[in-house]
Parts: sequence; structure tokens; C-alpha cells
Amino acid sequence: MSISPLIYDVIVIGSGVAGLSVALNLAGHRVLLVTKTPLGAGNSQWAQGGVAAAMGEGDSPELHARDTLAVSGDIANADAVSVLTQVGPDCMRRLMVLGVAFDRDRGNLCLGREAAHSHPRILHAQGDATGAELIRALTLSVQQTAGIEIAEAWEVEELVADAGRVSGVIARQGAECCLYHAPAVVLATGGIGQLYRYTTNPPEATADGLALAARAGACLADIEFVQFHPTALAAGSEPLPLLTEALRGAGAILVNEMGDRFMLAEHEAAELAPRDAVARAVWRQLQAGHTTFLDAREAVGARFPDDFPTVFTFCQRHGLDPRLDRLPIAPAAHYHMGGVAVDLSGRTSVPGLWACGEVACTGVHGANRLASNSLLEGLVFAERVGQDLRGFIRFRSASVSSGLQLTDIGERALPAREDDFVISQIRDIMWAHAGLVRTELGLVEAIGQLHELEMTGAVRSQRGKNMLSVAQLIAIAALAREESRGAHFRADYPEAAEVWAHGSVWTLNALEAEKASMLREVLAI
Ligand code: SIN
Repeated sequence: MSISPLIYDVIVIGSGVAGLSVALNLAGHRVLLVTKTPLGAGNSQWAQGGVAAAMGEGDSPELHARDTLAVSGDIANADAVSVLTQVGPDCMRRLMVLGVAFDRDRGNLCLGREAAHSHPRILHAQGDATGAELIRALTLSVQQTAGIEIAEAWEVEELVADAGRVSGVIARQGAECCLYHAPAVVLATGGIGQLYRYTTNPPEATADGLALAARAGACLADIEFVQFHPTALAAGSEPLPLLTEALRGAGAILVNEMGDRFMLAEHEAAELAPRDAVARAVWRQLQAGHTTFLDAREAVGARFPDDFPTVFTFCQRHGLDPRLDRLPIAPAAHYHMGGVAVDLSGRTSVPGLWACGEVACTGVHGANRLASNSLLEGLVFAERVGQDLRGFIRFRSASVSSGLQLTDIGERALPAREDDFVISQIRDIMWAHAGLVRTELGLVEAIGQLHELEMTGAVRSQRGKNMLSVAQLIAIAALAREESRGAHFRADYPEAAEVWAHGSVWTLNALEAEKASMLREVLAI
């Protein structure tokens, strides 16, 4: 095992749109980008629908803000939403300068429509390959920018702290460990989809950033709010391929095996109702024994291969032709509205630690995210983190004369072998009890089962420990919120409650105390 301390101005963890954008915004500084996957992997790369920004005729940032707030269950942070929607259009223009090729028709941007947007405002690339195009352009720019070093396929195991300040990370690649120091660390590690049996997220979405931040003492916010996408292709593969919401924006409908267009009876906006409403409607159909389908034959038909090439390829791989076939669908865990609590500059509650992208909670989504606001949030707030860090680095170099205190990390154990079987159990428990429809009974059951897994010591890998810890935190926060709001639906408290008309903030200690008291009371341990 080799351990060598290396010193940077900033360490960025994660290589999705948020991580790459922060790094690019720090050009000229010594930046280390640590990514556990090869560059180009990750959730952002898979994003289909696009990026929402008010750039169309008759649209405005205010209207975009109004739509964002309207679906948030009344608890989004209006200041954060204002930043998101006001800065969005300029952020898109900067991306175009960088080389991002959004789809155009005779020179004009093609703007798609998605659920709960009052205007067509979704910028997309190559039809439904928006994430891939963003990652292509951002990765290329990062690779061409002097000062950014990339540690590819290195997994961060711990944040290193010095007198209460984060001052670096310990990263691992197989048996090799490395200690990297920096006065500023940015978490841009993405989401948590893999905590659930059914997800649209890639295998690397394992809640690492939340676990690292929680262990470092950072406040977490709104972690009970997990978004389920209503239209994952139910074709037996894992993760479930996404059938972009842009398909419904283009007129595709949802039907059951009898051809009943069930969304008409569910919501006045039918298939374009907010995502949580559509996901629960699909769920109810499935629970009632129906089979559910997305039918794009009439609305998209022969244009499918050109307009939605990514989805078309998935379908073909599963023996389906969306021009002729209805596509079987099911809801799947898709996005985490909650995360590490941050201010509008991406600062967490722990000095030296910033966060942006899905791992962070700026409050822009509240209890439910508007479609195509996630890439936008990652991009807009990464720029703000970059801005803040530039000021921080200037201030620090003017005021700090001595270098960083180097930490001795001593001998570190070899990585534990992977524990896929236990991870699979975690995912089943979360799907069964902490998914689209929750109850006190189910959540208590989940917390008890997850606690038992913890007690057996069966979870040994870093990945497994992170997943187990965050799964428990989400279940505890979901149990505490005795109401239904946005994506958090409690069958035993089906209405929103005035006393809960706010976000939630937790620390690891508070969540553990809550769990201990629950276990004492309910399970009589
Ligand atoms: C989609 O294309 O439906 C996903 C976009 C999003 O999650 O905002």
C-alpha cells in the first residue's frame, strides 16, 4: 500500500455535469477531480429529456420559477429557485460557447415540452441524448484545461478533517490508498437511485457523497424526498431504461392493458401532471393488477428513431418497436430532492466542504422536482460554487502563510470484498417500505430490518456501508414526516399538514438518536 500526501487548491469529487463544471470554473488553480468511474460514466451522461431554461418566445425566468415552485409542494426555497431560473439562460449560452450542440431547427433552438411546464423550454441534444452531449463537451474542456488533474477510477473513502475543517480526502484504487490535501473539497457525487430495487440510475449512484458528508457532521436536508420516474421501461433489465418524459411532452399517452387512458381520471393535466402524481397513478394501476404502457405510436410514430434515438435503441434491445408496440412501464427511483444542505454558494455546514448537483440540497426542488431542472441545477450552482471558491482561494492565499497541516492516515486495511447479496437486501427493503407509498408500519419495518443488517456486520464494503447508512437515514426522515407532500406519500397521512410546510434538516447524530428512540419504543429493544 502506498500513501503519499498531495496538495491542491480544491478537490472535486465526481465527474457528472456538476463536478466537471466546478472544475472548469476553477481554471488556473490546482484542482484535483477524483472520480470513481471512468470519465464519461455516471448519471448525468444518461440524462435524456434535457435542460430547462426560459429561452423561448413568451417565456420568462419568472414563469419558469412559478412552475418550479408550483410542483414543489410549497416548500422550495424561493431564493434558490430565483437564482436557478434567472441564471439558467446565460448558463445555457455559456455551454453553447463551450461547444454543446443543442438541437436546432433552421438555426433556432428546439424547445421541448415536459410535464408541469407552462411553456416549451427544454433544450435537448441529439433528440434524447442531452446528458451525453453535455458530458462530452464538458469532459473535453476539462481535459484541455491546464491545472486540472484527474484521478480516474479512484473512490473517496473518507473526508479528512483538521480542527473541524475538511482538509482533504483519502481515496482508494484497489489496494492502493492516497491522501490528497486541499483547503476546499467539493462533493459532486450524484444521487442515491441504487438504494432501491428498481431505478433508472446507473450502478454508481450509491449515495457516497451523502454518507461522506453525514460522517463529517454536515447537515442534511429534505432527505425523505425521493423522486420516482413514472415511465421506466419494464423489460427486466437493471437498471431500468428511462422512457423520457419528453415522449409524453410530444403527446404519448399512458394506458393499461385494456387500453384505458387512466391519467384522464387522475389529473386535469393527464399525462403532463407533475411527476409524483403520474408515478403514483402508475403504481396504483400496477397494485390493482393492471399492466401499464406508454403508447407513442400515434403521437411520435415513424419519427421515433430520429426524435428519440436513445430510447429507440433501448426498445430494440428489448425486442420492442415503439412505432408499432406499446411500451410496458413501471415507476423507478430516479432522483433525490434532498441532500447535503447548502447555501446559495454551495457551502455546507462544515467548513472546507462545498456540494453541488444531486448530492446537494439547495432547496430548489422542495418535495418534488420539475422535469429537466436537475441538469440545470447542477450547472447553475456549480458555477456559483466555482465563483465562491475563487474568492475563497484568493482570500486564503492572502491570509494563510503556512501550508496545510498534513494528516497521517497510518495503515489502512485492505478493501473488504464486495457484498452484493446484502446490498440487494437493502434495495429490496427500501423498495418495499420506503418507496412511492409509505406507512409508519412499513418504515418501522424497514428501519428494523436495516438495523439488523447493520448489527450482523454483514455489510463490509465501503459501498455497502454507505448505502446501508443512507438508507436508514432516509427511512428515519420519512417516518418522522407524518404527512404527504410531493414525492413523499404516506398512506397513513394522505394529506399535507400545515405543521410540516417546511423542509427538514438533520444531522447524523440527530438521525441516530431518532432511530435509537424509535427502536426502544416500537421494537422494545
Ligand atoms: C426525463 O427525460 O424524463 C428525465 C428528465 C428529468 O429527470 O428531469
